[in-house]
Amino acid sequence: MYENILVEREEPLAFITFNRPEVLNAMNRKTKEEVLAALAELEGDEGVRVVIVRGSEKAFVAGADINEFADTRPMDQWVDRREQAYYEAIPSFPKPVIAMIRGYCLGGGCELILGCDLRIASTTAKIGQPEINLGLIPGGGGSQRLPRLVGEGKAMQMVLAGEPISGEEAKAIGLVEEVYPDEEVEARTRELALRIAEKSPIALRLAKEAIRAASNMGLKAGLEYETALFALLFSTEDKAEGMKAFLEKRKAAFTGR
Ligand code: COA
Repeated sequence: MYENILVEREEPLAFITFNRPEVLNAMNRKTKEEVLAALAELEGDEGVRVVIVRGSEKAFVAGADINEFADTRPMDQWVDRREQAYYEAIPSFPKPVIAMIRGYCLGGGCELILGCDLRIASTTAKIGQPEINLGLIPGGGGSQRLPRLVGEGKAMQMVLAGEPISGEEAKAIGLVEEVYPDEEVEARTRELALRIAEKSPIALRLAKEAIRAASNMGLKAGLEYETALFALLFSTEDKAEGMKAFLEKRKAAFTGR
């Protein structure tokens, strides 16, 4: 069904794998449409609680497809808000999304992981925003999300110098949460995903919503929003189950209701 990605379910996990090895998984329009379709498919699948986005050993994603940029006219690029909508799809996806990063993760690839909820990198990862080398700047949210994650100085360095950093460097500046040797990264990512998948899907959804709001709201409005979401969870079966399981000293079985 998909040409440029693979979508695999191993409940409670699902994997979206970039699969265009001939161009190191560079994302063209078709890839982006396929990722959006895959997310729509996985959103409605109750058996899927956490999504892992990954590429190959050599490349997570080597950026947007430069061949497509070569003949894009300025007004078309400006009017075409699909570009931003694409990079907004994972932040607004209602389930946790973890990026597993090996090899090149450049340009749009880096912007994609910035929108993921967690990032686990291999020591082989080369993560960067090299658009400056093409006479461009990041256009998929990099100039806004990168400084929020790593601070303005490191974001400036990555965007102005356009040089990729290693998995370890990315961990040191907070651009990825964990870094592991290549042979361990998949198992460690699965472990973390499975631990998260045991939680209440509805609480995960609101937790993601609340933390995302921190970048968009002032503190006062954000705290009020958090209080409203917190209170809302008192209406769920999962909250009742969580309390009951704790008191009965057993593991909670959350259903998302
Ligand atoms: N868009 C389109 N094609 C790309 C691509 C991209 N972003 N990145 C890599 N490719 C293609 C290459 O053109 C090459 O195709 P070819 O075999 O037909 O020549 C193929 O993928 C393999 O890449 P190659 O450059 O030969 O591999 P490498 O190991 O020598 O170098 C990179 C790897 C990632 C350093 C290099 O490909 C690169 O700089 N890519 C562009 C990264 C970038 O600027 N991304 C941001 C775009 S806004």
